[in-house]
Amino acid sequence: METMIGVIGGSGVYDIDGLENSQWIQIDSPFGTPSDDILFGQLNGVKMAFLPRHGRGHLQTPSTVNYRANIDALKRAGVTDVISVSACGSFREEMAPGDFVIVDQFIDRTFAREKSFFDAGCVAHVSVAHPTCPRLGDACYTAAKDAGINVHKGGTYLAMEGPQFSTLAESKMYRESWGADVIGMTNMPEAKLAREAELCYASVAMITDYDSWHPDHGEVDVTQIIETLMENATKAKSIVARLPELLGATREDCPHGCDRALEYAILTQPE
Ligand code: ADE
Repeated sequence: METMIGVIGGSGVYDIDGLENSQWIQIDSPFGTPSDDILFGQLNGVKMAFLPRHGRGHLQTPSTVNYRANIDALKRAGVTDVISVSACGSFREEMAPGDFVIVDQFIDRTFAREKSFFDAGCVAHVSVAHPTCPRLGDACYTAAKDAGINVHKGGTYLAMEGPQFSTLAESKMYRESWGADVIGMTNMPEAKLAREAELCYASVAMITDYDSWHPDHGEVDVTQIIETLMENATKAKSIVARLPELLGATREDCPHGCDRALEYAILTQPE
């Protein structure tokens, strides 16, 4: 099967460098309007599709992003592997601003978003016990390492609704009692929907701040985030640039079964 790498770019990442034959194309979805058109092209002979999560010009908030339309549009476009790039805060001293985390677990605290494609007429419960694709995560980790990025393999991402940042009490609870490593506003329900769409999904989280728990760092603010983001965006682009070589122009069935997630998930009887 031909590989098509889909990149969902977060804050600070609004395109892919060096894309050949690039073209922005509108992909319609029955689930509503995606955040933007999709930028298609090739990188080292591998098909690529880029979708800016917040739209060009950063118009969508984490709560107004239509995650269902985004994942559905990527699936319809032929994407096989989704790399999610996003900014996050850190709950760990050793995970410092400027570092990257290849997230492999989530705690979903979002509550104002459509979270499933299966909401009418067809009942399905997919497993998200292991919500990311290890094959894809490993490729992101290798790409990051090779680019000289300070990258952490594995971490639990707490997805919050926002748009406000966490209170000090929440920040401490997520870190001390819940064991979360990083916090952000966008990876859920994106990861769950990618699994429902039987797409391999990996999350590259770029740390911009220490949220509000750290005694030696002031509370998080957007100016601080943007400063770190600008540096992070260049690093994120170097990961994306390496992925075609690591993943190849063709792919086998996912060894972890991401592409067959619905096989044992649908309850509704076929007619
Ligand atoms: N995105 C970047 N930093 C964040 C933080 N501290 N909390 C939630 N989302 C973030």
